[in-house]
Amino acid sequence: MNPLNRGQDKNIQVGIDIGSSQVRCAIVESDLENGAIKLLGLGTRASTGMRKGSLIHIDKTITALDEALKEAELMANVKVERAIIGISGEHIRGINTQGAIAVHKSSTQNIPVEHEISAHDVHRVLELSKAISLPMDRDILHVLPQEYIIDTMGSIKDPVGMSGRRLEARIHLITVATTAAKNVAKCAEELGIEIEALVFQALAASLPTLTQDEKELGVALVDIGAGTTDITVYYEGGIRHSAVIGLGANSITNDIAMMLQINIEEAEQIKLKYASAKAALASTELEFELPAQENEIVRKVSEHELSRYVEARMVELFQMVAREITRADIRERLTFGAVLTGGGALLKNITSLAGEVIQEPVRIGYPKGISGVVDVASSPVYTTVLGLTQWKTREDEFNTGLLPDKPLSQAINKLKKWFKEFF
Ligand SMILES: Nc1ncnc2c1ncn2[C@@H]1O[C@H](COP(=O)(O)OP(=O)(O)OP(=O)(O)O)[C@@H](O)[C@H]1O
Ligand SMILES: [Mg+2]
Repeated sequence: MNPLNRGQDKNIQVGIDIGSSQVRCAIVESDLENGAIKLLGLGTRASTGMRKGSLIHIDKTITALDEALKEAELMANVKVERAIIGISGEHIRGINTQGAIAVHKSSTQNIPVEHEISAHDVHRVLELSKAISLPMDRDILHVLPQEYIIDTMGSIKDPVGMSGRRLEARIHLITVATTAAKNVAKCAEELGIEIEALVFQALAASLPTLTQDEKELGVALVDIGAGTTDITVYYEGGIRHSAVIGLGANSITNDIAMMLQINIEEAEQIKLKYASAKAALASTELEFELPAQENEIVRKVSEHELSRYVEARMVELFQMVAREITRADIRERLTFGAVLTGGGALLKNITSLAGEVIQEPVRIGYPKGISGVVDVASSPVYTTVLGLTQWKTREDEFNTGLLPDKPLSQAINKLKKWFKEFF
């Protein structure tokens, strides 16, 4: 039997997460009747062509993606034709903006009459809100409505059918550098994969991780990857802030290599085995030997000493995270604090340190709600790729249901145009 005799049916979704340390592909199947999602295939390959979310070597990335895809395809017995792709990098910016329109129809007596708000009015106000001036080299990736305000009444999610004179929309816009988006898209296009959407990685990671209560009462999803830390802050069900910090768990490895004068590969192994985000919780007595060349004296370092370097770096990172959370400009505290995902979330004692620095409750985010995941993809490193597979079915949770033309489809159409023009 041909192992890939099944094409990509409508109910099969594919996510591609091209990270700085790993390229990951996931294939899931959604049961159209009961909404259940099942993981069919997963593929991972070391990623050497990405640095801090930016492509530095396209051929290496395409090869890694090709291998990861083949692994997932074989496991799922599905030939991938379309996929949702994650994007990150320091070029990503999130901004809050708003726009307002008059909804009343002026009557003959020149007295404003209350008017029922139509979908057309919502489209108009959203078009106005997102019409910010963007430099030539940037594009809007996501338009994420936060709330609508009718006259003085705020916190409205769906204003269609309500009455009022003035309609205001508050939205969160995520923009990307055009070249960065183009390059990520090219990797998949080169392999003949149609891109259904490009999605900010932290948005995707929040899908299988956060609960509705967390998103309503306030939570920050903090994805600590190898090269970047991606953040999205939720409050009252909408995105209030998003940011990418150009510091990830690889910085710890680099620090260890420098402080202990060893190579990166050795430092990585030591980090995985002995590092703790809190030095006070690491033993001063447990010592490990450093890799030595022949004729060199064997050096020993305690877990406590190692963890001092690690803690210093993580304190710096969480101070930056705390600053980003304040930028969300939410008057109250985030009831649910921060949820950590990505490989960096696996560092020992990280929740304890993060809680101390950002002064909020902290938990680790594991992917939930997808069957078959427990066996192979239960780690926080899979939240992004699994979230990408859910994007198409759950995008409306970001209140995008009323958008006249989903910006993602606009961005994708633009990408298709580029490909026609350039390749
Ligand atoms: N058990 C662990 N303890 C400490 N660090 C870990 C552990 N497992 C993985 N990491 C670190 O997590 C990082 C990889 O995380 P992840 O796989 O989420 O990155 P990525 O998605 O490829 O990168 P990015 O999101 O920045 O593009 C590496 O720096 C790795 O050393
Ligand atoms: Mg990642």
